[in-house]
Amino acid sequence: MAVELEKTVNKEIVQRMVNTFYGKVIKDPLVGPFFTDRFGGDIEGKVWKEHLVLLANYWSMLMLGENDYHGRPMAPHFDMPGISRKAFDQWLFLFHETVDEIYIPKIGEYFKNQSNEVARRFMLNLGL
Ligand code: HEM
Repeated sequence: MAVELEKTVNKEIVQRMVNTFYGKVIKDPLVGPFFTDRFGGDIEGKVWKEHLVLLANYWSMLMLGENDYHGRPMAPHFDMPGISRKAFDQWLFLFHETVDEIYIPKIGEYFKNQSNEVARRFMLNLGL
């Protein structure tokens, strides 16, 4: 049976998308180690839970204009030895793949455009 795709964006579905995305990320040999080095491999644990909530707040800010995110999204990426354009490409591949599993194309397109734009800015600032 085909999976029903979401036609709306709300905090609950954004959280599900974020959790699904990082579930893929930690298993990925290229991107995973950047995260598991910091947060460990237990995505159900407390440390990860905090990060997943933070990221859902971030995406809810971008997509819904909600204001629960008060961080500096770019800052931690300056302190990541080994980060590369290839890693960003893979991050984007997994993010887009997740978006396609969750949302109808019309909504997915907004998430993808936002992720491409932020990744482009990050890479520019990182000199990648
Ligand atoms: C290869 C690509 C990327 C890698 C390896 C990566 C890795 C990480 C890691 C390890 C953290 C946690 C840092 C810490 O708290 O110590 C983080 C935080 C974060 N990342 Fe990325 N990231 C990547 C790309 C992106 C992109 C494209 C976006 C946005 C579209 C993004 C958004 C964020 C945000 C919002 C945070 C939280 C910052 C905060 O408020 O603490 N990242 N990233």
